[in-house]
Amino acid sequence: MNTEESGGSADWKQGSLQYFHSKNLLEKVRELLKSFSAAKKTMSIYPVNHEMCIRAVEDFRNNFDDYLMWKNSFSLRIVGDELFFEEKLLPRESVLFYSLIQELKSKEIGGINLIAGLTPLEFTDFISLINTKSEELAERGGLANLMQKAGIHNILIDEPGTWEEKATEEKLRPSAREDYFNAVDVIRELADQVMTDRRLSVNKANRVVGAMVNRVGENSAAVLGLASIKSYDEYTSYHSINVLILSLALGSMLPLDRNSLMVLGTGALLHDLGKVAIPQAILSKTGPLTSAEWRIMQEHPAKGADILLAQPGVHPISVLIAYEHHARYDLKGYPQIGAKDKISLFSRIVEIADVYDAMTTVRPYQKARTPDQAIRVLVKDMGTAFDPLLVKVFIDMMGLFPVGTLVKLATGELGIVYEQNEADLAAPKVKLIRDRAGAEIEPNIVDLIHLKEKISEVGGAVLQSLDPQSLGLDIIPYL
Ligand SMILES: [Fe+2]
Ligand SMILES: [Fe+2]
Repeated sequence: MNTEESGGSADWKQGSLQYFHSKNLLEKVRELLKSFSAAKKTMSIYPVNHEMCIRAVEDFRNNFDDYLMWKNSFSLRIVGDELFFEEKLLPRESVLFYSLIQELKSKEIGGINLIAGLTPLEFTDFISLINTKSEELAERGGLANLMQKAGIHNILIDEPGTWEEKATEEKLRPSAREDYFNAVDVIRELADQVMTDRRLSVNKANRVVGAMVNRVGENSAAVLGLASIKSYDEYTSYHSINVLILSLALGSMLPLDRNSLMVLGTGALLHDLGKVAIPQAILSKTGPLTSAEWRIMQEHPAKGADILLAQPGVHPISVLIAYEHHARYDLKGYPQIGAKDKISLFSRIVEIADVYDAMTTVRPYQKARTPDQAIRVLVKDMGTAFDPLLVKVFIDMMGLFPVGTLVKLATGELGIVYEQNEADLAAPKVKLIRDRAGAEIEPNIVDLIHLKEKISEVGGAVLQSLDPQSLGLDIIPYL
């Protein structure tokens, strides 16, 4: 049964999907990681002998037993901000467990190895130790030392940097990513505050918006690429950050000054906060909504505006954005806006960002459109749903193939759009990731303007955009 034993020292870059030719092993690895993270979280809240902790450890143990059917040790490695199972990158988990990775790094852990004899007691002791503050660990002699004292022999930790590759990419990208995931944490926290009737940390929201305004000012292409990060399970949090990025990028094209961008950004970030008040069963329903459910769903803009109005320090125009983001350019959306002939400029900006991000994300009731398909929808509804001028500016900004789009070139190679060429919106710069035979390659950037000259007889360098999910491809690591 065990077909994985020989997979030792393969190249880091070599086909990670191929490696998991047995899909079950990947599933086990994912389950195991999920239960590891859940146990760690539970033990940070409850005492170790609490029923919840006992159940979490039990759950982990069952998953580890399942995993042991495949291999007799489990090696998790951290390279930069990414998680690897042995030599194989786990792109999805690198995103999902971003804060866990950061925490392990702060505890000086560069990798964790779990060995077959691992007992629940060893596991519990280990989790308690890594839930201890870094300073306290250092005072008590360091993690490795404490593990030895506690008799934890079936978990080995690697020193930080053990698995680091040579320095990766330019400096801007990783820290823009950090801003992105920090923003996701903040919006989660804000939603939680609304749910528990606490006052909103408006300052934190402002800090997130301020950081993104800076990013967009420095290098809007790099930040726009981040807006192609999506989460199926946690749609609204990731969606809010993407709408923030897209709105700021569009606003800065007009151009708006910094203060206006702050007001626009706050409204964009918080536009869907009213969804906290909508039952989960409606939000995640797979089939079409009944008319009663649809009426409830349509209350989220007004509910969001109510929540924001009650917070001191939120600008009235940010509140207005939450209220108007579904009202449409022609006022045929919801809620009905009777008193004026059009919605405010900032609401029109956020509306485009909102619809674009929603269309390009898989939802329980829809497949994701590719970015160029989504742009075609915006064009079709110019002048009715959307402000036509803003749609034009949006297309100028995104190009015909927006940053983050998976494309197939005329040469047969696959790549991800990396940067627009102002001179030719149909010929962006592309990061190649697969050769014409479909084999994974060391990513390298080609400028399609040059490629186009060479193969003009083909009629364009980009042949088509593709949906990464239908190909089982995860593009996040390439952004
Ligand atoms: Fe909404
Ligand atoms: Fe939305």
